[in-house]
This record gives sequence, C-alpha cells and structure tokens, in this order.
Amino acid sequence: MNVQLDPYAKTEKNTVDQFRSDILNGLQNMPKKLSSKYFYDKTGDHLFQKIMAMPSYYLTRCELDIFKNKTDELIELLIPGNEPFDLIELGAGDAMKSSYLLEQLIKKEFNFTYMPIDISGNILSILHEKLSSRFPEMKITCLEGDYFEMLQKAASLSDRRKVVMFLGSNIGNMTPEEAEVFCLHLNKNLSPKDRVLIGFDLKKNPHIILDAYNDKEGITAAFNLNLLTRINHELGGNFDLTQFQHYQTYDPVTGACRSFLVSLTGQQVTIGDIVISFEENELIDMEISQKFSPERIRELGEKSGFSITGEIRDSKKWFLDTIWQAK
Ligand code: AVI
Repeated sequence: MNVQLDPYAKTEKNTVDQFRSDILNGLQNMPKKLSSKYFYDKTGDHLFQKIMAMPSYYLTRCELDIFKNKTDELIELLIPGNEPFDLIELGAGDAMKSSYLLEQLIKKEFNFTYMPIDISGNILSILHEKLSSRFPEMKITCLEGDYFEMLQKAASLSDRRKVVMFLGSNIGNMTPEEAEVFCLHLNKNLSPKDRVLIGFDLKKNPHIILDAYNDKEGITAAFNLNLLTRINHELGGNFDLTQFQHYQTYDPVTGACRSFLVSLTGQQVTIGDIVISFEENELIDMEISQKFSPERIRELGEKSGFSITGEIRDSKKWFLDTIWQAK
C-alpha cells in the first residue's frame, strides 16, 4: 500500500484517460450525462463534508443513529455464533459510522479482521493509522482497488465467513438497473452464509427529501458545478460556471431524486480540442439519489439471490440498513 498522504497528489495516467473518455462520451450523449462518481476531487470531498453537516441532509445522522444506538441489534443480525470472520467495508472513507460497530465487537471479544476496501490507497493509509491507534488490538487488512477485485482477493486471503458493509445510501447513486446488477454481482462474489449490510435511504415526505438536495445556501449546487471546474482543470476545459444552473427534482412515485445542470444560454464549450455545443436550457444529467420502499429493498435482495436476514431502521424510520445472507 502506498503511503503518500495527499490523496489527490497524483492521478495515474490510465485514471485520467478513463476520466477524459467517460466525460467526453457523456457530453456527446443525448441527453448529456456526467457521472457523479467524478464529484469527489479535493474540493468535491470538502463540499460533501459540508453537505453532511447541513441540518437538512438527514441521511448521515440517520445511519449514525443506527450504528450508535442499535449496535447490539446490528451485531445479532450480522454475526451468527462466534466463529472468526472478516468484516469488509466497501468505500470505507473515514469509517466514522462503522467505528461504533468495531468498538463494540472488540469489547465483546469477537475474533475478526477489519478489511476496508477503497480505490484510494492514500485514504486507506490515513484510515489504517487512525484505527490502529484507536484500536491497537484490532487486526486490519487494507485492500486497495476495485470493489469486486478486492472481494475476490479477500476470499483468497482466508476462508473465514465474510460480512460485507456498503453504507451511506451509496447504492442510491446507481440507477435501479445498475443497483440490480451490483447486488447480483455482490452475491456471485460471496460464499454461502456470508452476509451483507446495505444502507438505503427510504421514501418519505417528498419535501424532506427535496430539501436535503436543494439547499438555499447553494452547497449542493456548488457540489454539482465543481465537476465542471474539475473538467476545466484536469482536461483543459473552458466551462463558464456562471452559464450553468443547478436544478433538482424528486419524483415521489419512482423515488428518483435527480440533479441536473441547465445551460442558461446557447453556448460552445471546448475540452482540449473537442467542441461541445449546448442549446439554451439544455440539461446535463448529473446524479441520481434513489429512494426506496422497504418492499423494494426486500425484492432487490431476493432477486439477487440472497435470503433476507433482517432490517434495522433509525428512530425516525427514514433510513434502513438491511442484512442479507448469501445462499
Ligand atoms: C454519496 N451519496 C450517497 C450522496 C447522496 O445523498 O446521494 C451524494 C449527494 N449528492 C448530493 N448530496 C449528497
């Protein structure tokens, strides 16, 4: 694992090539589309921290409520018996929520290895340092790379039962079709009796959802517009940010909360030597944050070949962590 401390200091050539080709393909699409997975450069990470601190962005607090106040229930559903196991977290970040679970597992003397998976080795280095000073007795194996490649690697490292966590409603940033493919793939990469915990944001009063993504301070707008700045800096683009406006929608029937950027005028933007034309009011589809019903979550688990072990909601019943078992 690489120990460079600035996670944004170096971008591999093939990562830049992939970024360029995804952006250009997306902007040549009809309708134009950019992937929200590219929101997270240094400024994007900082803006997402600000979003998480907004009183209207309830998601983080809801899942934190589950990890902080329902830890024993979580353990009961996640870990049957007391055989040794590997606790794998996809996209662990700073492991803020999972730390409550780790602390309780250590207190109760479970025999486990924590395996955070992230595409950034630098984020893993920082996490490793933080967790090994907070929990010196905990075994940690950091896995740097693609989620599914690293799940295979984890399986090759030990035949202990795997417990895989995917928190924060990150699954909501996939289209319903992508989420189905993801869950099927997750199932294929696990062995019978392995368990998964996935965090889903639930459908609720539509005003509450829209307010979480349409803040008056413009932080979510800046989060979306920052991808245009990133394209300008990293791919030699010349987007004029004053000529694009954030527009957010929520459809309570389908549960799709979507963000767009609207071109305020007919304009041409260049990226390197490629020219992209925009008509006045043309949209760029930026992100989906899908909201779910509990029935849809169960259906997704069953369709992907899991059996449903249980589910835990926060005290407001706005967020649901589901636990599934591979058959
Ligand atoms: C990371 N993800 C779960 C966030 C969400 O709620 O969809 C990203 C986000 N986009 C706007 N606000 C937050």
